[in-house]
Amino acid sequence: MIKIAVLPGDGIGQEIVQEAVKVLRVLPLSFDMQEAPVGGTAYDLTGHPLPQSTIDLAQNSQAILFGAVGDWKYDTLDRPLRPEQAILGLRKHFGLFANFRPAICYPELVGASSLKPEIVSGLDILIIRELTGDIYFGQPRGKRIASDGHFPGSEEAFDTMRYSVPEIERIAHVAFQAAQKRSKRVTSVDKSNVLETFQLWRDVLTCVGKSYPEVSLDHMYVDNAAMQLVKEPKKFDVVVTGNMFGDILSDEASMLTGSIGMLPSASLNKDNFGLYEPSHGSAPDIAGKGIANPLATILSAAMMLRFSLNQAQAASLVEKAVQHVLSNGLRTADIYSEGTQKVSTSEMGDAVAKALKTLV
Ligand code: IPM
Ligand code: MG
Repeated sequence: MIKIAVLPGDGIGQEIVQEAVKVLRVLPLSFDMQEAPVGGTAYDLTGHPLPQSTIDLAQNSQAILFGAVGDWKYDTLDRPLRPEQAILGLRKHFGLFANFRPAICYPELVGASSLKPEIVSGLDILIIRELTGDIYFGQPRGKRIASDGHFPGSEEAFDTMRYSVPEIERIAHVAFQAAQKRSKRVTSVDKSNVLETFQLWRDVLTCVGKSYPEVSLDHMYVDNAAMQLVKEPKKFDVVVTGNMFGDILSDEASMLTGSIGMLPSASLNKDNFGLYEPSHGSAPDIAGKGIANPLATILSAAMMLRFSLNQAQAASLVEKAVQHVLSNGLRTADIYSEGTQKVSTSEMGDAVAKALKTLV
């Protein structure tokens, strides 16, 4: 019995995770999938975005399948109670430091990208984002309010950007090892021309790179990387970067694949325990309309089968089923183009499940 903690979260999270569960159920594997609230949904139910009972369920599972968290209606809450703290808390609690965000442009979706077909066709890059350090978690952070409480003008806010050598080393090893299985090229993205944190990052990457002589290492400033990603994205293979730059660059890279609704992700700890979620957010503006693209979540479930559950064959079948559905011309609104068939979230899930049935 494979135990999976299913945490749909907020907004479209509920709709897309349901489709991934539907697809997993087709596989000839026996799953025990239990659901728990997280994010704003959990706050409404329990007063906390990451209740202990949700952590306990995850702790007793082999992997976490996650939807998305966040809604503007929680923007006025104290930061520790905001929905985003649920995903940050899970990453920290389970030490999920290595975030894999593969950006693959499926041939059928070349036309759905906002970039010219020749720029994105055949694209297959892997963004590796460090996930438990950087300015997201550095201390101290806060807001100083002047004694007269006068605003604007007399307040300040601050966050601390911080990385230690062991934190950089472990993500560097992950990147070089991933590159060994691909085209043996790593681009490390930093801002060492301005930031001490990223000078250390560059020095450690160079040092770790010496143990992988067969892998070539380039360093690139983040502003240049953002530009190169839309100019000539196929020049990249494995991109490794910190938490903040990785957040930004992975959203940018998603558009090379046609839609942010296509980008899956895996967040792993040192024991390969993982949380699997689409790289996109909860999209409250389209929640409940049945138009969200479930493919990033379904592809995240495939990553879960491969990385945490040792089911590489099942993972490939799910990916094949997705490809099959795309070749048949089915598209959710975000990837729709003339001549294809527009389907809803659940119709897309049904189609992938049906295609998978013919493969297993
Ligand atoms: C992501 C998201 C999160 C992040 C938010 C929801 C906290 O944008 O996973 O990319 O910033 O890491
Ligand atoms: Mg993000």
